[in-house]
Amino acid sequence: MRVAIGSDHRGVRLRARLAEFIRSMGEEVIDLGTCSTEEVDYPDIAEAVARMVSSGEAQRGILICGTGLGMCIAANKFPGVRAAPCYDDLTAELSRRHNDLNVLCLSGDIVGEKLADHLVEIWLRTPFEGGRHLRRLNKIAELERRNGKPS
Ligand code: RB5
Repeated sequence: MRVAIGSDHRGVRLRARLAEFIRSMGEEVIDLGTCSTEEVDYPDIAEAVARMVSSGEAQRGILICGTGLGMCIAANKFPGVRAAPCYDDLTAELSRRHNDLNVLCLSGDIVGEKLADHLVEIWLRTPFEGGRHLRRLNKIAELERRNGKPS
């Protein structure tokens, strides 16, 4: 699996650690920065990661900002992207089982390093359940089409 990862200045440390952690799990990582603590605008990083997921160049994306919220809002502007913040085991697991979440948004301010590793591991290893959940995702894709965002 190819995982694109990016952060703004508030997620730099966590991103660097997670990139290594994901590689140690045997997955390919495309690290899209930012690489310093100099301020950047989170929509620019969200665009780089979400574009890769939307086009299929990456199967998954991970975005980290102060809260995880701005990244989530920006990433969801891209067709086929399903991005949400996860803060605990249950949201990480159900985001995969029910929502087939393909972009995980994390808070660099709130989520500690060990918890982040744990959430990412759950999120990367949990499959989508399909069935009634697929019917609902198809309805979301239809909403995208009807509102000018074809996937
Ligand atoms: C940057 O100061 C901050 O707004 C950003 O990291 C994020 O928390 C936005 O949602």
